[in-house]
Amino acid sequence: MSAAFLDLPQFVSAAGTLRLPGSKSISNRVLLLAALASGRTEIRDLLASDDTARMLAALRTLGVGIELAGDAALVVSGVAGELPVRAAELFLGNAGTAFRPLTAVLALAGGTYRLAGVPRMHARPIADLVAGLRQLGAEIDYLAGDGFPPLLIRPPRHSTAAVVRLRGDVSSQFLSGLLMALPLRGVETTVEIVGELISRPYVEMTLATMAHFGVAVQRDGWQRFTVAAGSVYRSPGVVHVEGDASSASYFLALGAIGGGPVRVEGVGHDSIQGDVRFADALAAMGAQITVGQNWIEAAAPAAGAADGRLHGIEIDCNDIPDAAMTLATVALFASGPTTLGNIASWRVKETDRIAAMANELGKLGVRVDSGEDFICVHPPAVDQLLRPAAIDTYDDHRIAMCLSLAARGAPLRINDAQTVGKTFPDYFERFAAITRPVPVVAIDGTSASGKGTVAARVAQALGWHYLDSGALYRLTALAALRAGAGWDDEAAVAAIAATLDVEFAGASIRLAGEEVGDAIRSEEISRAASLVAALPAVRSALLFRQRVFRRPPGLVADGRDMGTVVFPDATTKVFLTASLETRAERRLKQLIDKGIAANIRDLVQDLAERDARDGQRSVAPMLPSTDAELLDTTDLTIAIAVAQVLDWVNKVPGKG
Ligand code: DC
Repeated sequence: MSAAFLDLPQFVSAAGTLRLPGSKSISNRVLLLAALASGRTEIRDLLASDDTARMLAALRTLGVGIELAGDAALVVSGVAGELPVRAAELFLGNAGTAFRPLTAVLALAGGTYRLAGVPRMHARPIADLVAGLRQLGAEIDYLAGDGFPPLLIRPPRHSTAAVVRLRGDVSSQFLSGLLMALPLRGVETTVEIVGELISRPYVEMTLATMAHFGVAVQRDGWQRFTVAAGSVYRSPGVVHVEGDASSASYFLALGAIGGGPVRVEGVGHDSIQGDVRFADALAAMGAQITVGQNWIEAAAPAAGAADGRLHGIEIDCNDIPDAAMTLATVALFASGPTTLGNIASWRVKETDRIAAMANELGKLGVRVDSGEDFICVHPPAVDQLLRPAAIDTYDDHRIAMCLSLAARGAPLRINDAQTVGKTFPDYFERFAAITRPVPVVAIDGTSASGKGTVAARVAQALGWHYLDSGALYRLTALAALRAGAGWDDEAAVAAIAATLDVEFAGASIRLAGEEVGDAIRSEEISRAASLVAALPAVRSALLFRQRVFRRPPGLVADGRDMGTVVFPDATTKVFLTASLETRAERRLKQLIDKGIAANIRDLVQDLAERDARDGQRSVAPMLPSTDAELLDTTDLTIAIAVAQVLDWVNKVPGKG
C-alpha cells in the first residue's frame, strides 16, 4: 500500500447534502446470499470498496457468475446451495464481513478451501466460530496460530447435530456467519448463545437480509436462533442496498460540530442498520436531528440551548460499536467529558481501536482515559483549539475517517489516508465538499515586490494570521549554517527544517529561543535561503509547518508558492511583481535604513540571479497560479496595493 498523506485544513463550518455509498455490511451479506440462492439477483447501489471487492473476487473464484448491469447494478447468478468450485484458495484482505461468513459457508459446503488475509486478519480471533462449526462436523485446521486465520477447510464429516453452542461476546459476525451458512445443512439447526450477545443490531441486519432471501430464522430472545429443515435461499429478484449508516455517522457529526445542517440520503426511518441509532447519541449530546423516510439531518444545538454547544455524555455503545468511534471525536467539541462504554470489541477490529483512538486523540493535546472496554475523552479547555498533529491510521478506515473530524479544531495531516478505500473510497472528496476551510489569502511574488509589507498589512486589516513563508527558508538556512551543514547536503538541511525550533510573535522571530529577526535578513542568509529553498526535501519538510498557520479566522500567507503548492485552495490568490530596478531601489533603501552598505548594481544582479533560481528550480518554481490576480507594484504606493488586495478578498463569496 502506498504511503500517502493528506493534509486537512482546519474547517470553520460544515453544511450540505450527500448521497451515501452503499452499506458495507448489507452489501457483503446480500452478495453472499444472492450467490447461494436459486435464481438471478440484481443488486442495486452495492458499495464499491475494498471489502466488497474481496467478497466479489472470492465468489467469482468459487464459480459464482457475477455480471455488471449498467453503472450501479450487478447481476449474481445464484448456485442454489451448490458451489461449483470444490477446491480454492481465497485471499480476503482485512474484510471481516467476507472472512467470517465465508468460513462458515465453506465449512459446510463440502470442498477443500484455504482462507487467508492480511497479517492483521491473522491476528483477529475466529476460534469461537470454528468451535461452533466443528460441532456440526466441520473439518477446519489452523495453518498458523491456534484460534486465528489462515484456515484450511476440508469437507465436513456427516453430522446430524441439531444444536450448536456459540460464544456471542467477541464478535457478532460469528453468529451472523453461522446463521447465513445453516440453510446449506438441510436439517433443522439451533444456535444457542453462550454468554452475552454483543452488537445485536448487526445480527438483526443478518436476519432481515436472510428473510429477504426467503429464510425466516426463528428467534427466541437473543439466546436461541433456529433455522428450519429445508430452508433454502430464493432470489427476491431485485435488491436495493441501503446507504451505509456507519459512513453516515461522519457527516452527521460534521453537521453537529460544524453548524450544519448536513443531510445524508440513503438511510432513514426504515433502515435495518443499527448504526442509525448514532443519531440518537448525537441528539443526546444536544445536536438537532431530523429523520425522514430515506434521510437524516444533523445540525448544531440551537443557539439558545447551552450556548449552542454540544455537551459530553456517558453512553453504552454495545449496539453501535462502529459509529461509536465517531462519538469519540465529536467529544472533542463538547463541554465536559464523554465516556464510551462497553466497547471491548474495538480491540479485535481492523486494529486495536481503543489503543489507536487514545494515541491519536492524545496527539491533539487532550486528555484521554481508556481501559479494557471504555474510552473517556476530555475536550480541550479552549473551545475548538486543538494542537495540529500528524495522525496515524493503523490501516484502519474508521480511524482515518473519525480523526478527520478533529480538523474542526486544528489543521491535520492524515497519514495513509487511502485506507478509507476499505469502505468509502471517495470519503475525503465528500468531506471537502461539505466543509468550509479557514480562508487563506495567498500573496506570492518576487523578492522586493512589496509582498511582505502588503501581506502583513492585509493581515492586520482583516484581523487574520500572517505567515511569512520566506522566513522559514531563511531560518532553515541560518540553522543549517549554525549546525555546519553544507547547502547542498539535502538530507541534513531537510532534517534541520523538519525540527526547526521557531517561535513567531508579532515582529519577533526566535530560533531556539534567540531573537533572529535581523540575522535572517542578511545578504548571506538571503542567498543561502534561495539555495536551500531549491532542495525538494527541504520544501516538503516545511509543508505542514506552513499549513498549520491556517487557523481561524483566516490566514494571509506570503511567499513564492503559497497559491500553487502550499494553499492551492486559497480563497484569494495574488501575484505581485515590480520592475527589477524598482525592486533593487527598495532593497537598497531597506539596507541603508539598517546601516548596511550596498550598491544598486550588485543588488540588481543579485535579484536577477535569485529570480532565475526561484523561477527555474525543479520543485515549486516561482510562478503565478493560473487563477491568481496579477499586481504590478512598480508605480503603486503600499496603501494602494493593500487596498487593491482587500478589494479582491472582499469579492470572494462567503469570505470569513
Ligand atoms: O521572501 P523571502 O525573500 O524572505 O524568501 C527567502 C527565500 O526563500 C527566497 O530565495 C525564496 C525562498 N522562498 C521560497 O522558495 N518559497 C516561499 N514560499 C518563500 C520563500
